[in-house]
Amino acid sequence: MIGFRSLCLAGSLLIFSGAALSGSHASPQGPPPPAPAAGAPQESPVAKLTPDDIATGKQIFAAQCAGCHGFDGSGQLGPNLHGVGARRGDAGIFSVVRNGTGAMPPVMSLNDQRVWQVVGFVRTLGDAGPMEAAKGDPVKGEAVYDANGCAVCHAIGMSGGGVGPQLTTVGRARPPKYFYDFLRDPGKNPPPGYELVRVVTKDGHEVTGIRVAEDTYTIVLRDVGEHFHSFDKTNLKTIEPQPGKTVMPSYGNLSATDMDNLVAYLSSLKGAQ
Ligand code: HEC
Ligand code: HEC
Repeated sequence: MIGFRSLCLAGSLLIFSGAALSGSHASPQGPPPPAPAAGAPQESPVAKLTPDDIATGKQIFAAQCAGCHGFDGSGQLGPNLHGVGARRGDAGIFSVVRNGTGAMPPVMSLNDQRVWQVVGFVRTLGDAGPMEAAKGDPVKGEAVYDANGCAVCHAIGMSGGGVGPQLTTVGRARPPKYFYDFLRDPGKNPPPGYELVRVVTKDGHEVTGIRVAEDTYTIVLRDVGEHFHSFDKTNLKTIEPQPGKTVMPSYGNLSATDMDNLVAYLSSLKGAQ
């Protein structure tokens, strides 16, 4: 969860400067809406937002959401948000931001007004999602998955290995274009929690693995054999993050058809129905 924590921190720093830069923004015309009851507000104030509010929402989105959903909301580490307004409604989006959902952590650093502004911006994204659906055949894609040994490192449901993340609901969390990029170059943008690190101890022992935990004194790595190694940092000569490297092989050499089918299969993994 180190990745999430640093992401959130970077996000709040950005938003802090973003808010300072945005300066004053007009408040909605007319009397303020009645104070909402405890819990979710009764009525969505989104219809009353001014263009300035939407512009502020766009800035907040760029600072707090775009890292996962893309600046245009078409998705990257998080899903495409085009069309989500019609599906979840204003209050539904508000609640996702406040409480998180599935693989998305709650966004803690925004007050209600800021959240409504960002909801207002999300509603402007419209419904025509670029790359809505994967174009391949998920049934054939499952065969590609089996033939390439993905299950050695990944579990779907109860079966498979634990070196890489569970893929049981990955199709809900990530858009197809993420899979295309990721399968070609898995080290480029690893999901939070999967950074590869190489350490060398003072007596010359060397381990490379996924960083599963780290604090001031200790670092814990999990190697490709799924063994955990815990190190006292005072015994280490070097700790080197390995950006761009991963234990997952690149699958950029798959044929275009196999790639389309595999992506369709991954996109179909949405958990128990
Ligand atoms: C750390 C990455 C991350 C950040 C930051 C993030 N999201 Fe998400 N978001 C996700 C993931 C992953 C999901 C899919 C969750 C699931 O279903 O497992 C998601 C889901 C959503 C959904 C629901 C999508 C649907 O199809 O129902 C909405 C709406 C949303 N996010 C809006 C936002 C907004 C607005 C922000 C910024 C205030 C934000 N997110 C910040 C990762 C993120
Ligand atoms: C040797 C182990 C290994 C094999 C084989 C492997 N992966 Fe991975 N995979 C990983 C690891 C580790 C990660 C974590 C991210 C990283 O290291 O880049 C990962 C991440 C992923 C992700 C991103 C998950 C997310 O939540 O964003 C997907 C999708 C994925 N792998 C699919 C596949 C598919 C499909 C195959 C087979 C064609 C495959 N992997 C084969 C180890 C493996």
